[in-house]
Amino acid sequence: MKKKFFNAKIYRNDSATEFIVENGKITQIGTNLPICDNEVDLEGKLIMPPYVDPHLHLDYVYTGRNDGGNVKSGTLFEGIERWHHFKKTQGIGDAKNRALEGVREEASHGIQYIRTHIDVTDPDLTGLKAMLELREELKDKVTIQIVSFPQEGMYAYKNGYELVEEGLKLGADCVGGIPHFEWAREIGEKSVHSTVELAVKYNKMIDVHCDETDDVMSRFLELLNALVMIEGIGKKTTASHACSFGSADNAYANRMIGLFKKSKINFITPPTENAYLQGRMDNYPKRRGLNRVKELLEEGINICFAQDSINDPWYPLGNGNMMNVLDNGIHLTHLASYEEIEKSFDLITFNGAKTMMIDDYGLEVGKSANFIVLNESDEFEAIRKRVGVLASVRNGEYLFKRNKPSYDIPLSI
Ligand code: FE2
Repeated sequence: MKKKFFNAKIYRNDSATEFIVENGKITQIGTNLPICDNEVDLEGKLIMPPYVDPHLHLDYVYTGRNDGGNVKSGTLFEGIERWHHFKKTQGIGDAKNRALEGVREEASHGIQYIRTHIDVTDPDLTGLKAMLELREELKDKVTIQIVSFPQEGMYAYKNGYELVEEGLKLGADCVGGIPHFEWAREIGEKSVHSTVELAVKYNKMIDVHCDETDDVMSRFLELLNALVMIEGIGKKTTASHACSFGSADNAYANRMIGLFKKSKINFITPPTENAYLQGRMDNYPKRRGLNRVKELLEEGINICFAQDSINDPWYPLGNGNMMNVLDNGIHLTHLASYEEIEKSFDLITFNGAKTMMIDDYGLEVGKSANFIVLNESDEFEAIRKRVGVLASVRNGEYLFKRNKPSYDIPLSI
């Protein structure tokens, strides 16, 4: 049945206010479109494609308060140590239930696309098996990509390389890595070579936890970028975190930015997690620990924001609210002008979809009718007010719809 959505303020489209959906796809978009039996008034609200969370650990969801540990140093390495103990206790059912609750929480904030890193440094591959089932069961509601991710190292963990490869054979979409966690620089470099070789061998995307440290000498990004450029797979490659690049000196950064433009590599920054985890060894001034988001955007290099953690041993406060992620990201990376702020919605929508290589994304004829409705009509005001998502629509049908918040405030003059 045809359905017409009208009276829309469409993000990045000033010429259309209406669109018609048939069999889950957008068949027309513009103004003064034909009358349909089924019409939905969007009340002038801001309509955009769904939020994208391109870097999340669904196998870790809600383990922050339930692993019996607590935050002491607040570092990445403490988080890995806590997870090392917890993961031995989980079963497939338990892992699946927690991941499902994580997806539910993200979806409630308007996310429909998730890339999740699943720890495969586990001889039983418990988290991966749970996630492969869930990806299939939820595919009509949310698009999930899985990274075969060696949390405890491709070489620091016994048979880590083989387990990553097994994850790819079982159906993971991307090869992961964590070179800064390997026990020596040379072994970290070896893991980067292995990551790229596996991606080529199995025709997979790459998403590496790369240089998630304030150590300016951690420069695995340089090698990753060079190797994928040689293979011509930069567009399929993502460097997540790249915190140390935020601490590098300008001469080095300038040279590297030129090479990133050539390779077309993608970047992901989780603002809340990296602001929380990094700078822990600093006195004052304390570094923010984030990549050079503003400078990469200015150079046309693709970078997006993510919610890395939903209450796990690395970061206690994540909840999948991308407006909160964006809010923090804007502040921490000095996206200060009105134009930068208005366009910053790209960091939680289009840029994430590009990173995940999702072609069927955006409000255009021929694409799936997937979109969210924000409780504002203007981009800047939507961010200033940190508005919530009123509805999330998938293939033309509501995933959820909620009432506008109303207030009765007795103020008058
Ligand atoms: Fe991560």
